[in-house]
Amino acid sequence: MSTHLRPAASTIPERNQHLRRYLMCRPEFFTVSYKINPWMEPSVPTDTALAVRQWQTLYDTYLALGHEVELIDPIDGLPDMVYTANGGFVIDGVAYGAKFRYREREPEGPEFMRWFADNGFEVREPLAVNEGEGDFLLVGDAILAGRGFRSSDDSHREAAAVFDREVVSLTLVNPNYYHLDTALSVLDPVEGLSNGGPQHANIAYLAEAFDAKSLATLEDRFPDAIVVSSEDGAVFGLNSASDGKNVIISPRAKGFERQLRERGYTPVSVDLSELLLGGGGIKCCTLELRK
Ligand code: ARG
Repeated sequence: MSTHLRPAASTIPERNQHLRRYLMCRPEFFTVSYKINPWMEPSVPTDTALAVRQWQTLYDTYLALGHEVELIDPIDGLPDMVYTANGGFVIDGVAYGAKFRYREREPEGPEFMRWFADNGFEVREPLAVNEGEGDFLLVGDAILAGRGFRSSDDSHREAAAVFDREVVSLTLVNPNYYHLDTALSVLDPVEGLSNGGPQHANIAYLAEAFDAKSLATLEDRFPDAIVVSSEDGAVFGLNSASDGKNVIISPRAKGFERQLRERGYTPVSVDLSELLLGGGGIKCCTLELRK
């Protein structure tokens, strides 16, 4: 018999939506022509039209929920540009630029910086290799920062200096989860429950993606976190976008969907199966523009 206890309906907290401003890039030139992560298989054909349709659903979903979405023009020959999360990291109108680990994506860095400058952001040019919001996530006043595969330790120090904030380095150990946003999702950067519940931030993560020390840090800082199953992690369930209430997730992340409902969130499924061929999902296609 199952001993799993479901909270009674009355204990499910009510969540507050926060409207967001995002940057996205229509995947008009999406394909997989090189391999820089284990998900990419250049020999497997891609369907660009399908990628665009799936991406459009995500775009439409954000608008329907009331969010604002800015667009950067896609560039022929830069098939990964659709993953705008890697284009920088933006807090309080300051955009810390990306400096990509692999040559194939290097030209994207200056393109995103140009977009930020043209759109009124104060741009900080990076000296250190870093892949933007793929590896930097804002939680409360602190920045959680991924290391191990893409973003360098120097970039953690650089981000701390640029934003004058605490940076908590987390070490990724599984190549399938090579960016922090593939292994950890910020559900509410400042959890403010309308029914007077706990006031701290809320995250979800995949334990096996982290080394023991990072795991201990996560357990210590986020005792209420949702810990997802390997199955949900493997379908990029954590590569999701939350507005504090609605959480856009992969339709395949069934367990995570249930865990979210139990915590009072509203899961909204959007299928980006075609973009998963490039090793990216919902969050990868979404960069938050914080004013
Ligand atoms: N093909 C891209 C790369 O390997 C996918 C990036 C996914 N982005 C992310 N934020 N996890 O760089």
